[in-house]
Amino acid sequence: MTTGSLLVADLVIAVLASAGWLGAGAASAVRRRPLALALAAGALLATLARAITITALARAGWWFAAEKILIAGPLSLAAVGVAGPRLLRVPVDIRAVAVPLLFAGYATSGALLVTILHGYPASAGAGLLAVAGVVTATVISARALGARPSRTASRVALGVAVGALVTGTGLTVAPGVAPAVPHDHGFPATRIADEPTRRFTLTAGTATVDAGGRDVDAWAFNGQVPGPELTATVGDVLEVTLRNRDIGRGVTLHWHGYDVPNDQDGVPGVTQAAVRPGQEFVYRFRADQAGTYWYHTHSASDVGVRMGLYGVLVVRPGPVTGLDVTVPVHTLAGRPLPAPRVERVEAGVPVRLRLINTDSTTHRYALAGTAFRVAAIDGVDLRGPTPLVDTAVLIPAGGRYDLVFDAPATPVALFVDGRAVYSTGPASTAAGAWPVLDPLGYGATAPAPWSRFDKTFTLVLDRGLDLRTFLPRYAHTVNGAADPDIPPQVVRLGDVVRFTIVNRSQIVHPWHLHGHHVLVLARDGKPATGGPLWLDSFDVRPGEVWEVAFPADNPGMWANHCHNLAHADAGMTLHLMYS
Ligand code: C2O
Ligand code: CU
Repeated sequence: MTTGSLLVADLVIAVLASAGWLGAGAASAVRRRPLALALAAGALLATLARAITITALARAGWWFAAEKILIAGPLSLAAVGVAGPRLLRVPVDIRAVAVPLLFAGYATSGALLVTILHGYPASAGAGLLAVAGVVTATVISARALGARPSRTASRVALGVAVGALVTGTGLTVAPGVAPAVPHDHGFPATRIADEPTRRFTLTAGTATVDAGGRDVDAWAFNGQVPGPELTATVGDVLEVTLRNRDIGRGVTLHWHGYDVPNDQDGVPGVTQAAVRPGQEFVYRFRADQAGTYWYHTHSASDVGVRMGLYGVLVVRPGPVTGLDVTVPVHTLAGRPLPAPRVERVEAGVPVRLRLINTDSTTHRYALAGTAFRVAAIDGVDLRGPTPLVDTAVLIPAGGRYDLVFDAPATPVALFVDGRAVYSTGPASTAAGAWPVLDPLGYGATAPAPWSRFDKTFTLVLDRGLDLRTFLPRYAHTVNGAADPDIPPQVVRLGDVVRFTIVNRSQIVHPWHLHGHHVLVLARDGKPATGGPLWLDSFDVRPGEVWEVAFPADNPGMWANHCHNLAHADAGMTLHLMYS
């Protein structure tokens, strides 16, 4: 069983246990004896079964089990200890056990709420709040059912509830230690002397564009979605003038995967101010990395990219040989882009398909009709990639794969999620339920370039209630905090930095660090054997633990976030900062 399915199984059992106890309590309160006994027996079994799932999760990593062991464990023991013995000697009037059964229900539900609303890391505050809730609910139920606890019992319960409530609230809402990210400092302009310069102008504005045969409202660069394809040869200087005609939320250009100097990175409030309607900003940087990249607005990035403010950036090592095709995949107003394209290709011509996922979720790509190799991932060439046949690739949000092959005499077709987007003739072959390539085992190994790490960080991804905003929101969290309260990762120039990313949640988080590519060391404890995989975007699936490392060689303040941009907006953004 994967850790992801264990997380789901444990959650389901926890829900069944609390529902069972609460139902048993209610049934006994209305004297439905057989129903009450059946529900209580089920709940007891479920509560005991959690010992198995929680132990298994703890073995997968403390991050997955912390609050379950520290908070759900004791509360479940209390539930079993209070309600269990009553079930062995059931009184004649079943109503007499209603309060203990309800107590067990409140205890297990309280623990469940801690997991759902608070998650990782377990905190004393959350535990105390759960205890306060359980005691209060039990006292209220006892009153309502006319049970007469002794005066001392009531006093003690009240004391415990109030004490726990006060301490727990204090501990939970206390301001975090996160220093605010310094924003809007002076932005020095990078000066680059006379060199071959490729100049482009991108004007952002609202537009009506064609998406799969239908006119839709979009936000576009130069009136088109995707924006113009920017190309350069290694060594060129790129000079891109960004103008904003009428995008009220502001616009910037972020060069996704391109490790530009910090002041060219295009993150509003961190490396520059957003470009407002009527304003402009000039980006200049040297194109010294070959490969497939893309650009997109980073101002209101979730809605901005979704509405169409993105385009392709390709830097080639030299003149194009053979056929070089870019396939930026996007969903615009619910319609898949690009439109299918058919192009005759002479047999023997070398073809490179540059696949780019500009959406916020993973896409599945399948190339039918030829053997192919994955030449590069996220712009970086792989070592010794071997030929693949009838194999699909999954590209995370923001990720790029370059597929290469020599055109055969018969047609070749590329499918994205089952839809043909590119073919060299009538697409007769279809891609079936092919196995998916695991890039961690593809290509030839290279020895790890470092033997020591100067800094290590752990990022635990989860969901939780963010109480620090005016209106509490159900945020996507990192180590229990949401942007802007997540402490930055502070490194020094020259450090070799290792970080572990753990996904405790039920959803995929495509991780993206700005300004650096990270080398994948291991996933779920299994070392990466192929590659070497230098990625800027990678899917951390539920229950997965990734180990990655990078040299801190690009000073500045860098966003480090989930590239499901709705998640990034809802808290899942932190910063890497050079001291
Ligand atoms: Cu492609 Cu911070 O983003
Ligand atoms: Cu995410």
